[in-house]
Amino acid sequence: MPLIDDLKIPLEDAEHSRREFLSLLGGGAIGVASLGTAVTAVRFLWPEVLFEEETRFRIGKPEEVPVGTLLALPEQRVYVFHAADGFFAMTAVCTHLGCLTRFEKENNRIFCPCHGSRFSTSGEVTDGPAPKPLPRLQLTIEAGLLVVDSAKVVEQDVILKV
Ligand code: FES
Repeated sequence: MPLIDDLKIPLEDAEHSRREFLSLLGGGAIGVASLGTAVTAVRFLWPEVLFEEETRFRIGKPEEVPVGTLLALPEQRVYVFHAADGFFAMTAVCTHLGCLTRFEKENNRIFCPCHGSRFSTSGEVTDGPAPKPLPRLQLTIEAGLLVVDSAKVVEQDVILKV
C-alpha cells in the first residue's frame, strides 16, 4: 500500500506541523526516559549508607570517680553515678516527653526544664509528671575503663561493682 510520502504529494501545512509535533513528543518522551535511566544508574553507584550515632563510649577510669559523684554527659545524654555499692549509668532523657534533663549540683538532683519533673541521683522520680524513673543503661569495664552503651537498657537495680 503506497504511503502518502511515496506518492510525493506535498503535505499540507496542518499535516506538516502535526508530524513535527508528534516527532517532538516522541523524541521528548525518549529523552525523559533516557535521562531517568541515566540518573538511576548513576545513583546506583553510590551506596545508600546510614550513618548512625555511636552508642558506645568510654567514660574513664572508675578509680578516678569518687563515691557520690554523678557525671553528667549531656552530649551523650547519659549520667553515670558512683553509688556506695558501685556504678550505674542512666539516660538523661526525661521519661515524660523526652526532654533532656540536667543535673543541678547545688540541689543534688536531676531536673527536667520542660515540665518540671525531678529525679534523684539514682534516677527515681521525686516530683513532676514523669511516669517512671530514668532507665539504666549498660555499663561495663573494658581495658580498665567504664564503657556505656546508651542503646542497651538494663534492669533498674543493675549495679557495676568495681
Ligand atoms: S518532658 Fe520532662 S517533665 Fe515533661
